Amino acid sequence: MTSIKVPQARPLPKSATFEIARRVADLRAQGRTVLDLATGEPSFDTPVAVVRAAEQALRDGYTHYTPSGGLAETREAARETLGRHHGVRVRTEQVFIVPSAKYGIFASLASIVTPGDEVVLVGPHWVSYEPMLVLLGAVPRHLVLDSASNYRFSAPSLRSVMSSRTRAILINTPGNPSGRVLDTGEIEALAEACADSDCWIVSDEIYAQIVFDGGVHLAPASHPALAERTFTVGGLSKSHAMTGWRLGYVGVPQSAVNAIDATVQNTVGCAPAFVQRASVVAMREVDAEVAAMVAEYQRRRDELCGALASVPGFRLSTPQGALYAWVDISRAGRGDGGEIARLLLEELGIAVAPGHAFGAEYTDFVRFAYGCGSDAISAACAALAKWSLTAPQPLASP
Ligand SMILES: Cc1ncc(COP(=O)(O)O)c(C=O)c1O
Repeated sequence: MTSIKVPQARPLPKSATFEIARRVADLRAQGRTVLDLATGEPSFDTPVAVVRAAEQALRDGYTHYTPSGGLAETREAARETLGRHHGVRVRTEQVFIVPSAKYGIFASLASIVTPGDEVVLVGPHWVSYEPMLVLLGAVPRHLVLDSASNYRFSAPSLRSVMSSRTRAILINTPGNPSGRVLDTGEIEALAEACADSDCWIVSDEIYAQIVFDGGVHLAPASHPALAERTFTVGGLSKSHAMTGWRLGYVGVPQSAVNAIDATVQNTVGCAPAFVQRASVVAMREVDAEVAAMVAEYQRRRDELCGALASVPGFRLSTPQGALYAWVDISRAGRGDGGEIARLLLEELGIAVAPGHAFGAEYTDFVRFAYGCGSDAISAACAALAKWSLTAPQPLASP
């Protein structure tokens, strides 16, 4: 019998959080009760005015291709949003409406990176950055931040991972999983590290509107020395509870407009027309709903972080934004982050993301997400309090 040769697909890394979400769904299908603190999925419904605008847009015939940069009115609304919520001033022609922030990050990178180029990832970093670089044939250079530097970088620390082949630095503020917000010192550090280089910055600001305690979101592109080298990526998934709509936007440096236009035209073409139309309402007319959701996230953050800080051996700093608590479990005496994630799921029915999903060096961490409903957060906090009673003595500091 002749053997049939079967072609082999590339062994590409999957998204750790999508895989955990699948596991949660499987367990629930088997009848298990699982509290999903693993994924950054907002528990709220999309504001009604946005849903109505989408229905109307469908009836009005917004069911065809749009220009690759997006509908004129959506680009204009995103330009305003970039100014109002990111502090980034761009012309409308520099704004691209894209199907999701995730695609916006990928399209930005695809517009500037060629195989073999190096891209700096600041750890701990979001799960999809490294796989995106793999897809593009780019080489990640890891800047590993830890609590000793309060997860902050400086110009020398950036330079220590840059070389003549560095093509971009990927920034994420407010950060997933760290919950930290970039400060002015770090923006200056970026400007200093990139001066006289041909290094771009791709700044993922999907959580720009989810900042707590009256804090301020600072975008690299708001710095005059960085504006012409920075892609600012935002979107409506998190702030507007619109994950399923897949709508993002990118503020693009003028010199990269043609490159990203070509990337969008030859891959997705454009974002869905009726979603773009409804997004104008999202960006202009539902500020009160967004503010109410952010206030509730802050309340959940406080409740969850209070409970986590009471678990013997768990250490964390208060997240300044985004939807995550990043917990150092190295002194908990129950194994590494993967083992603790397994125990939390098996013993308490709480799904979380293990630290190694956010960089190979972060095996002693676990990420808890608090986008899920307030009932789930309260139930998780109660379970953690009980779990604490059976906790081993925290390990001493080295
Ligand atoms: C840091 C970060 N960037 C981007 C995204 C994706 O956003 P979108 O739903 O617009 O693709 C996420 C989603 O979890 C995220 O955490």
